[in-house]
Amino acid sequence: MINVSKLKEGIVIDHIRAGHGYKIFQQLGLDRLDDVVVLMRNVDSEKMGKKDLIKIESNLDLNLEVLGLIDPHVTINYVKNGERVNKVSLTPPQTVTGILTCKNPRCITNHERITDVKFHLVDAHTNQYACEYCDVRTRL
Ligand code: CTP
Ligand code: ZN
Repeated sequence: MINVSKLKEGIVIDHIRAGHGYKIFQQLGLDRLDDVVVLMRNVDSEKMGKKDLIKIESNLDLNLEVLGLIDPHVTINYVKNGERVNKVSLTPPQTVTGILTCKNPRCITNHERITDVKFHLVDAHTNQYACEYCDVRTRL
């Protein structure tokens, strides 16, 4: 098992469903960060069997909406002076604007230049969202 040390200062995104860590890494733009970032994949977990985990040695402002959209079950731990000071659980956002794109090839949003398309949560269990223009369901 590879050993990644505890953080002194920063953020740990924990309990990421195995396989989703890379997607979160990309969506949060962590590749553009100059601080230390570690993506651990397939870590053993008592609760989940396997999980992914991201450690960020920086106090950036995370886009919780994007996170809740990709994986609403993650835990976010904020670390200060080597101690976890705050733990946040996510819920999937009720509406999402400008992140999802409609997968319906006939949808107007795929033919005209419409920005900021809004999607509404229709199934929290499967994390499905409906397009405000055509109502077709989609997920990230
Ligand atoms: N962690 C870290 N650096 C710290 C403190 C915690 O990297 N200074 C990491 C731990 O390695 C762990 C996560 O943050 O992956 C959460 O740690 P902890 O606060 O110990 O909570 P747990 O009881 O492990 O997790 P939970 O209660 O959320 O299941
Ligand atoms: Zn649509």
